[in-house]
Formats: sequence, C-alpha cells, structure tokens
Amino acid sequence: MRHGDRETQRRGEISPCLKTPRLKRGPSWFDQTLTRKFMEKKRLRSQDWFGRKDEQGMIHRAWMRAEGFHEQVFQNKPVIGICNSWSELTNCNAHLRLVAEAVKRGVWQAGGFPLEFPTISLGEAVMRPSTMLYRNLMAMDVESSIRANPLDGVVLLCGCDKTTPAQLMGAASVNIPAIVVPGGPMLRGMWRGKEIGSGTDIWKYWDELRAGRISEEEWCEIEGSISRSAGHCMVMGTASTMTSLTEALGMTLTGCANIPAPDSRRYAFAEASGRRIVEMVYEDLKPSDIITQKAIENAITVDMAIGGSTNAIIHLIALAGRLGIKLPLSLFDEISRRTPFIANVRPSGKYLMEDFFYAGGIPAVMKEISSLLHLDAMTVTGKTIGENIRNARCYNSEVIRSMDNPLHREGGTVILYGNLAPHGAVIKQTAADPKLLKHRGRAVVFENYEEMRQRVDDPNLDVDETCVLVLKNAGPKGGPGMPEWGQLPIPSKLLRKGVEDMVRISDARMSGTSYGTVVLHISPESAVGGPLAIVQNGDLIELDIPNRKINLLVSDEEINRRLAAWKPPKPPYDRGYEKLYLDHVLQAHEGVDFDFLRATNLQ
Ligand code: FES
Repeated sequence: MRHGDRETQRRGEISPCLKTPRLKRGPSWFDQTLTRKFMEKKRLRSQDWFGRKDEQGMIHRAWMRAEGFHEQVFQNKPVIGICNSWSELTNCNAHLRLVAEAVKRGVWQAGGFPLEFPTISLGEAVMRPSTMLYRNLMAMDVESSIRANPLDGVVLLCGCDKTTPAQLMGAASVNIPAIVVPGGPMLRGMWRGKEIGSGTDIWKYWDELRAGRISEEEWCEIEGSISRSAGHCMVMGTASTMTSLTEALGMTLTGCANIPAPDSRRYAFAEASGRRIVEMVYEDLKPSDIITQKAIENAITVDMAIGGSTNAIIHLIALAGRLGIKLPLSLFDEISRRTPFIANVRPSGKYLMEDFFYAGGIPAVMKEISSLLHLDAMTVTGKTIGENIRNARCYNSEVIRSMDNPLHREGGTVILYGNLAPHGAVIKQTAADPKLLKHRGRAVVFENYEEMRQRVDDPNLDVDETCVLVLKNAGPKGGPGMPEWGQLPIPSKLLRKGVEDMVRISDARMSGTSYGTVVLHISPESAVGGPLAIVQNGDLIELDIPNRKINLLVSDEEINRRLAAWKPPKPPYDRGYEKLYLDHVLQAHEGVDFDFLRATNLQ
C-alpha cells in the first residue's frame, strides 16, 4: 500500500509490513455516495423488520429498545450481526467476546448498528466423539440465525478447527454480505527453552513418554507450557489452515488471518472489519461474489503451498457445495502437482504460526506463488487478490521459502486411488517419512478404535515396522463423525526400538497438527461397505505415493467374495440430531455435508 493512498485506507487494507489498518476520523468514514446509490435502488433487509409502520414494526423496535437503544438506530442503518462462536468450552475462541467489542466499534464508526449473537461452538479439545459430528449442526445454526433475523450483513468470529468452515458454510447458504474475523493463533509454546507446538509436540512427547525417554514430571511440565495465551493451535493445524484459506478465499481483510490472538493488531483488524462490513452492505458484496471457482482454486493452491491440514479438503468441498461448485478430489491432486510447498511451519516444517506471521503470513505466501493464482478473484476489500497482495513482502525466507527453494517441489496433500479407495483417499506427503512413500507391508487390522486402544501396546501384538496398521469404522458414519483417529499410535514395543513412523491407513481424519505416513479419508468408508471393511490381518497392502496408489494385493475374486459376505454395523444412534446426521451425511470425497444442505444443482 502506498502511504497516503486514501482509497486503500478507506477500505481498511494493510500495508505489507502488517501495520494496523488506517481509517479516516469521524462518522463519515465511509463514502456516503455509496449509501445514496444503494438507497436509490434497494431497501435494507433489516427495514422489513424495523422500518415497518404497522404494529409488527413497533414490536420489533420496542422490544429491541429494551436493550437501551435510541430510536435512531432503527433509521435505515445497516444492521450487522456479529456471529460469535465464543464459548468457555471452546478455549481457542474464549477471547472472541473481546474481539466482538472491537468489531462493534467499527460498525458504529461506519454508521451501522451491531448486534452480537451466539451459536453453538465446537471445542476441538473436549467434544466427543468428534467436533466433525457437529460441524453441520453449527453450519445450520449459523445459517438459520442469520436468515431468521433482521440482519443486512454479518461478521463471523471463529478460530477453533470446525468453527471456521461451519460459519463459512452457513453464511454462504444465506448469501448476505459477510466478512470473517478469526481469533488468531496462540503465542508459541515454550518448555525448558524449547519452542513447542500445539498438538504436534504432544504427539511427539507422548511417544517419548511411552518409550520411557521422558518422565511423568516432564510430561506434566509440558502440559503447563504448551498453551500460553488465548487463541487457537499455533502450528499449521486445521485451525490455522482454515483461517489462512479463508484469507486466500478473499473472505478476510488482507493480512488478518495469522495475527496472534493477543496481538493488539488483532483488535485493530476486528475494528476495521466492522467498518468494512457496513460498506459491503451498501456495495451488496456477497459470499457468492467472492467464493467462486477461482477463489476456491486459489485456496487449494495456498493450502498446498502452506502444507495445510488434510481436513481442509473436506471443508473446502463442503463449502463449494453450498454455492453449487463441484469440487472433485482430482482437482486437489492436479493443483498439488504444480504447487511447491514453501511454508516451513510444523507439523510439516520447523517453525510456528507466530514466526509465519512475522515472516509476512498469507499475503507473502500468495505474493510468492502469484503466478499460480487467479489474481482477478474478488475479495471482501472490494479489490482483487492481485491488488491486495501487490506490495506484500516476505521478511524471513527461511520461514516462507521462495518457489525456487521450496521445502518440497509439490504440495503438502495428495490424493490416492486404488481398489482400497475407489473414491479416493488423502495423505499429507510432506509429513510422511520419505522412506515410506513407496511401501508394501502386511496388514495389522483393528476393527474399531476401542480395539485399537486395547491392543496396540500389547507386547504380544504380531507387528513389526514394515507392517501397515489398519483402522476400520472411523469414517463419517462409522466413527461416527469421522474422528481424528487416523494417526494410529506406533506400538510401544516398536517405539522402544526407535521406530518413529510406519504406514497407517483408515477412513478417519487426523488432526492437522499430526504427522507421519498416514493415509486418511478412505472413501467409501468401511461402515458403508467400502473395500476397507474386508481387509484382513496378513493381507498385503501397497502404498505408492509418487504414482498416487493405494491397493489391497488380494485377487478381485477374493475381494468380491468378502464384500458379498460383509454385514453393516448397527447404527450407533436412533434419535436426535445424531440420527439426522447418520441419515443424511455424505462421504469424505463429498465433503461430509448433509445431502439436503448442498446447493440444489448438486443434490
Ligand atoms: Fe482449537 Fe486446536 S484445539 S484449534
């Protein structure tokens, strides 16, 4: 941004050095001609509630005035909903009421009328069996809360893994102007002088504890040192991936996604977003104008460049489906093959999100890979991605590498096919042991998660490091909710021998903070009779990542004989939301959305 560029300042855009967005002083911050032009042609949606002259209008206004509002707030001001996923059960989002206050400041400054409302929140660290079981419920809550209320625009406050896609999906389905303000990642964890990252270092030190290489006391110290501040997980896990991709989609102000939660600029950006949403209402700039095929392809490209969470694939497919955009898994692989992995952040790299932000964050990544992006995609700033990142810079080329010096010449995630996964499977190749990228091994099968927990550390388990660990019944219906069980623990007898990775396959997901040679999202899943259901102990399995293959080396006749004899498991729920979920959830390659929530042209 050029200093003194009034247009840029008006839109709340940031400079490449990530300075706080600037604004003009006073209530006339935004362009009043926008208001006039809008009013000549259109009426604010909220005026159908507050602008009425009849008794219904009086009721709508009178009851809102119970909160102490003056009658002037109902006079043709854009009503801005602040959709807050704050909850004390979602630690990652527990600071979002403070962020909401900053958004409100911005909305008032721009002449809008802010109203904060809660929805269900999804706390990754505590919800059982999986937050994924409830992502669609939250999306429905967001959608219905927006649709049923007198809102002209909405600011979405999110952070923890599923809260971001759920809000995007719900808002996309309503399609009124929307802007996202993520809560930001935590500060880096510190333990005995070492930097430790959410999740990623827990899995590492859990193995160290099981192998007897650290003490219970040290394990306890790590627990107290890893989450030092407000915010979501500070590796490139699902939360950081999804907020980063939200920026890549064009749904946040430029540079907003990766600001650490406690950083004062988080609040300045929230305020600027509050101002901007008022302007977006007058511009009638809606999610469908921003989340287009081009924007989705940009997000996939950024996902590959940052080594994003495997979960992003499911969420992007579901989001695209809300807007009638069909997103085949093959597109992810196509983009992965041409996109270098350049963000040196755990779990696939070395650094943490704080370092990534200081290095320039998503604007710097997008600038570096701009030759691979659709630079004409529109964003919430009212400008294109290309305009937004025009002056972005990288401040640490070790954290954000150049395309000429990538960490890996291809993207983080690739798609596998074969007789084990006719509709596809996913693996994060950048988090896998290079020695295992091509591997053939004997299956050690666990029929479900409970059995795996009971047997995996059994000294009598017939397993060695060349085996392939197989987990069944952990998919969308089988889990249910496709829990993050995919990073099966290395059997402790192998850990003690120094084994650090082995091939693991399942229809589960894995935490974005996890790593290892882990094949996930096998589709169709075992609980609906996918071929994974008939794998037996001792079968040979072949993984070939360079050629994108995952195969069961058993004859077709034998596979068909086993499939014919297969019986589905008993459904785990027969009532409530969970029954609705089981009746309508789609498979992993379709985004695990509900069939009736996708755009009608995809149903
Ligand atoms: Fe919320 Fe990791 S637990 S982002």
